[in-house]
Amino acid sequence: MATRILKDIENLGPVLAAIHQSCFTGKGAWSSQTFEELMAFSTHYLCVDFQNDQTVSGFILYNVVMDQSEIITLAVLPDFRRKGIAANMIDAMLCALIQQKVHCSFLEVNQDNEPAIGLYLRCGYAKIGQRLHYYGHGQHADIMSKKLES
Ligand SMILES: CC(C)(COP(=O)(O)OP(=O)(O)OC[C@H]1O[C@@H](n2cnc3c(N)ncnc32)[C@H](O)[C@@H]1OP(=O)(O)O)[C@@H](O)C(=O)NCCC(=O)NCCS
Repeated sequence: MATRILKDIENLGPVLAAIHQSCFTGKGAWSSQTFEELMAFSTHYLCVDFQNDQTVSGFILYNVVMDQSEIITLAVLPDFRRKGIAANMIDAMLCALIQQKVHCSFLEVNQDNEPAIGLYLRCGYAKIGQRLHYYGHGQHADIMSKKLES
C-alpha cells in the first residue's frame, strides 16, 4: 500500500464519493461535487491510501489553518478495515503537518463511533470536550486533539 498527501483532488472525486457512500450510508454521504468544492479551498488536503497504486482503500480530508489542523472526514472501505490503513494514513498526515509547522490536530467524532474513537486514542488523540447534539438530536460529538512537536 502507498499513502499520498494530495493538494489537488485530481480525478478522485467519484472514488471518494463512492467510499464515503459505503462508509456513511444513511448518515449524509457526500457527493463527488462536494469533495471537489471542498478541495477547491486552499486550506484543504487529502491523505489517500492506494492499494497496488490504483485502488483507493481510504482517505482523510483535512484542513490546515495557521498552526492548526482539523480532520474533516476519514473513511476506509469495509473490505480493507483492521489492516492498519487508517492508522497509517493518520501517521502520514501528522508527518506532513509537522513539516508544515502545525502545532495541533483536532477532530470531532460521534460518541457512538467506537471504531473511530479507538483509532484516534491509539493515534495519540485525547478528548478535550464535547458538542451536544452535534450530529442530530441525542447524537453527541467528542472533540479530540493531539499536540504536535516540530
Ligand atoms: C474508523 C475507521 C476509519 C478505522 O479504519 P481502519 O483502517 O479499520 O483502522 P485501523 O486498522 O488503522 O485500526 C487502528 C486501530 O483503531 C482501533 N479500531 C479500528 N477499528 C476498530 C473497531 N471496529 N473496534 C474497535 N477498535 C477499532 C484499534 O485500536 C485498531 O488497532 P488494532 O487493529 O491493532 O486493534 C473505519 O472503521 C471506518 O471507515 N469507519 C466508517 C467511517 C468512520 O466512522 N469514520 C470516522 C469518522 S470520525
